[in-house]
Amino acid sequence: MVDLGCGSGLWLQRHAATAESVIGIEPDAELLPTARARTQRAQVLAGSAEHIPLADSSVDVVHARFAYFFPTPMNACSPGLAEVLRVLRPGGSLVVIDNDHQHGEFARLLGQSPWAAAAQGEDDFIRRWWGERGASHHEVMSSWTFDTAEDLSAVLRNGISP
Ligand SMILES: C[S@@+](CC[C@H](N)C(=O)[O-])C[C@H]1O[C@@H](n2cnc3c(N)ncnc32)[C@H](O)[C@@H]1O
Repeated sequence: MVDLGCGSGLWLQRHAATAESVIGIEPDAELLPTARARTQRAQVLAGSAEHIPLADSSVDVVHARFAYFFPTPMNACSPGLAEVLRVLRPGGSLVVIDNDHQHGEFARLLGQSPWAAAAQGEDDFIRRWWGERGASHHEVMSSWTFDTAEDLSAVLRNGISP
């Protein structure tokens, strides 16, 4: 499986616990060393959604978590989707994790943000964009809790900033 836009590689170890082979792809050269240091069980390559350095039909699952796929009228995401479809084997899956713009505390924060709609898209447009391309949509209500301030600070350090 491919973790597209893997960032600092926060999820690579978890992917490696279940996937036979894990490849992280990341365009930001500064994040590559941290991602590579996460686990020996994942390979991390420089690349992007538009340029995935892998052969045609060579991947079972592409996973993109809060990376690249933020469809807006100004950013159609089509080049990256075409590239993902090139590397996926027939019957393979693209799994895109995005924010819920309708329900929950974070949706309310996004709704109040002056920049979120332009950067992350708007709910109706996003749903229509994926729907027109045959994607299915699953809502997962999530929340984060931390036992200690140190646990919270570790996630902020590793998960949000590089
Ligand atoms: C919010 S971070 C998410 C990182 C990681 N997926 C995670 O969940 O921890 C967004 C990531 O997308 C990457 N990115 C930006 N442009 C991209 C592109 N064109 N193709 C793939 N990834 C891209 C950024 O460099 C960054 O690492």
